[in-house]
Amino acid sequence: MPQNHSQSIPERFSNSVVGNYSRFPLVVREARGLEIIDTDGKRYLDMGSGIAVNCLGHGHPALREALARQFEKLDHISNLYFFEEQVALAEQIIDRIAPGKCFFCNSGAEANEALIKLARKFGDSSGGRYDIITTHNSFHGRTLATIAATGQQKVRTGFGPLFPGFSQVAFNDLNALEEAVTDSTVAILLEGVQGEGGLTPASPEYLRGIRELCTKRNMLFLMDGVQCGHYRTGRFQSIQRILDLPDSAPSEWLPDAISLGKSLGGGFPTAGIWAAARVQDVLSAGSHGTTYGGNPLACAAALAVLQTIADGNLDQNIRSLENVLRSELESLRQRYPEAIESVRGLGFMQGLVLREDAGLFKANQSQAASVQACLAAQGAGLIVIPAGPKVVRFLPPYIASSDDIAEAVQLMDTALAALANSSGTK
Ligand SMILES: Cc1ncc(COP(=O)(O)O)c(C=O)c1O
Repeated sequence: MPQNHSQSIPERFSNSVVGNYSRFPLVVREARGLEIIDTDGKRYLDMGSGIAVNCLGHGHPALREALARQFEKLDHISNLYFFEEQVALAEQIIDRIAPGKCFFCNSGAEANEALIKLARKFGDSSGGRYDIITTHNSFHGRTLATIAATGQQKVRTGFGPLFPGFSQVAFNDLNALEEAVTDSTVAILLEGVQGEGGLTPASPEYLRGIRELCTKRNMLFLMDGVQCGHYRTGRFQSIQRILDLPDSAPSEWLPDAISLGKSLGGGFPTAGIWAAARVQDVLSAGSHGTTYGGNPLACAAALAVLQTIADGNLDQNIRSLENVLRSELESLRQRYPEAIESVRGLGFMQGLVLREDAGLFKANQSQAASVQACLAAQGAGLIVIPAGPKVVRFLPPYIASSDDIAEAVQLMDTALAALANSSGTK
């Protein structure tokens, strides 16, 4: 049957695509670098990076060329065989963390599933333990196990009974964690910087305390690095940044395993885990798998992303511009103290914490303050992303310059001024 193209693209979506996302009213036509163009030709500055994915911006030539070259050479082959691209990527990841092994899959949720299965297998062989403690406001994915792991009720509603073996405690509260541990606890899983939960970094004392607790009780310390990993905080993994750990060296403070995703492929879907030497062989032959995981194209993309970050010292770029982003956002807070409560986050993962009860957002009670601010930003030509009801996330691509950041904050200023005008508070 011919498609009815007289309808708008959003209308066609509502007829043909499951409505599980609330999409912003923006129809994207194309994107290059930090620029997104909609179907009316309007330009937007992209400070969302496809939710922390397009770390090299859009359409980066290194990624395009690596994918084209790889497609000519070897596209997909399956994990029934050996091929160099996958082991080369594993070696590069190990080089950036510490000795261990990697497993590859396709999405962040699957990477966390692999961590959960690793913990269950480890617990099975060490006293039959299977409980995993996670934190309030965490986000670990949308599969049945990862919604049970996620510390946000909204992702679970309607999907009961929940997958068993998960409980949550307050983030950054070591006492609460210690009290929650029982003889059946096998692992603790948390993000180094909570992403969807509102950009809260773990404190150094908390991370060290968890490591000590896990070692003492023979539990696994698992970190979800899907959003905050892969250089988003200016170091390969957030714990290396927060505890100032060396690259490529075993450290007593490292976790036992870390999930990877999002920026790993720079836009090509891929994900995985790194498991420390001590648990690297827990997932033995036949215990886990996925058809596409670590396929040659995905690995070539991930290798090109790592090479481009290294060649351009992009991690250094993040560390040196982190304060520019923070102080620009801080000056915005000073201009709108009635609407912005604080600035928080780390590296290229920072944002504005809004005052939900500000007059600016009150006129429209049906939308969260963060969504209203992101819509206003879109109107001004800026893409930023909500993290919960009151945080607006800036997740610049690693290639962003100080001029890009200044432009982004200026556009956000325009957006807040427009919101103030329309709500009659200015
Ligand atoms: C910290 C964290 N873990 C896991 C996920 C799930 O990743 P995916 O959507 O690729 O399954 C996300 C996605 O936002 C995330 O932010």
